[in-house]
Amino acid sequence: MTDSIETPKGPAQNLPVQNLKDMADLVSLCKRRGFVFPSSEIYGGINACWDYGPLGIELKRNVKERWWRSMTDREDIEGLDAAILMHPKVWEASGHVSGFVDPLVDCKKCKGRFRADKLDLAQCGEKPSKKPGEGPDCQLTEARQFNLMFKTHMGPLEDSAAVVYLRPETAQGIYVNFHNVQQSARQKVPFGIAQIGKAFRNEITPGNFIFRTREFEQMEMQFFVKPGTDMEWFEKWKEMRIQWHLDNGIRKEKLRFHQHKDGELAHYAKAAFDIEYEFPFGWQELEGIHNRTDFDLSRHQQFSGKKLEYFDEQAKERYLPYIVETSAGCDRTLLVALADAYRFDGDRTWLALHPSFAPYKVGVFPLMKKPELVEYTEKVLGEVKTKFRATTDDAGSIGKRYRRQDEIGTPFGVTIDYDTLSNHTVTIRHRDTMVQERISVENLVRYIEDQFKNWNRV
Ligand code: GAP
Repeated sequence: MTDSIETPKGPAQNLPVQNLKDMADLVSLCKRRGFVFPSSEIYGGINACWDYGPLGIELKRNVKERWWRSMTDREDIEGLDAAILMHPKVWEASGHVSGFVDPLVDCKKCKGRFRADKLDLAQCGEKPSKKPGEGPDCQLTEARQFNLMFKTHMGPLEDSAAVVYLRPETAQGIYVNFHNVQQSARQKVPFGIAQIGKAFRNEITPGNFIFRTREFEQMEMQFFVKPGTDMEWFEKWKEMRIQWHLDNGIRKEKLRFHQHKDGELAHYAKAAFDIEYEFPFGWQELEGIHNRTDFDLSRHQQFSGKKLEYFDEQAKERYLPYIVETSAGCDRTLLVALADAYRFDGDRTWLALHPSFAPYKVGVFPLMKKPELVEYTEKVLGEVKTKFRATTDDAGSIGKRYRRQDEIGTPFGVTIDYDTLSNHTVTIRHRDTMVQERISVENLVRYIEDQFKNWNRV
């Protein structure tokens, strides 16, 4: 398959590899290399809002594409892109107007605002070594219920009749389109509807970089099933979803399920599991899998006055489907990809990203900035680009250029040198092992394709 000319060369020193321990290291890499910037930074930033830079947006598009393909390549799942602004009654029916609340307390002394149920995780504004309420001057108010939905007004009148909400989840756009999609796509239950889109929550305690923000993207899939088959589908989707994260190269020991017990279950759920990831700041939710019963369709049926039942032609049966939901944060999946891929050996920093997530798959470099090498590089780069997203760089030593690609997770580096001109072979360097091989230009694209095909099996 490959025509290795030289014995592969490994790393010069074998230093112990460390994973991400401090989020600050990742935040700094993301800023420096153009993955994620603080929003409106020249104005001092705005709390918990972030912008994706040139590499961040590529990574994000890759995350979304991989999720989208895993869902809509199936014959039994259709895609949808519903509007962010919806009829205000949607949020009454969904339970968000009355129930999407967190208990909030204010401190009259330091002016801090805290989740009343998460005081043990917060710091007093004046004495950070103390919890809110434990500092000598703390004056906490009684807890009051705070609705997390952002409100705005539709049209020029800012009166209560014109209130609309920025959606706090994408799911409701799917429920209200259940009949539209089922009938236009001629789907039969069981089938699903997938959607990726922005959601907004006025979180009281956002934080941990892009983990909890006020504006974020969700990747949600609602699977409509016959009542009685719901737990079977729930189990299937649980397994399929954790497998998806494993297939993205996320380390198995860093993923686990957390089952919601009675007190934790959302008002709509009969059963719920979170897929959790162990971040440097602890085990936290990455995705939720919920058995939502017929709660959503029955509520929308009740509030809209429109029948949302499904008629099974074969069994001549009419029923309201149950819904099994898989709901992942896109930004959180991206954060997991970055946090899990971060490697440091005391000298070199690299992102061991899965190739399908990596912003660039290949870097092609001239060994030196000589016209004949640059010209050959452009030719090879052009060929590689017909198959993979690739880049070049001719600034600094070849070692420095490899390091720059390592830091942004580019799986392969290809170098064009003087031997290339005479025998049409190149050096290909592997990001994770630093092993270098010599292969012919002719076989380069196929070699990389084979490496990517076998990636999950190594
Ligand atoms: N439709 C169900 C639903 O929205 P959720 O558990 O509230 O369920 C699903 O949210 C996922 O959305 C979470 O697992 C998380 O990945 C992401 N998510 C929720 N709130 C978020 C926030 N404030 N910032 C970033 N991601 C968030």
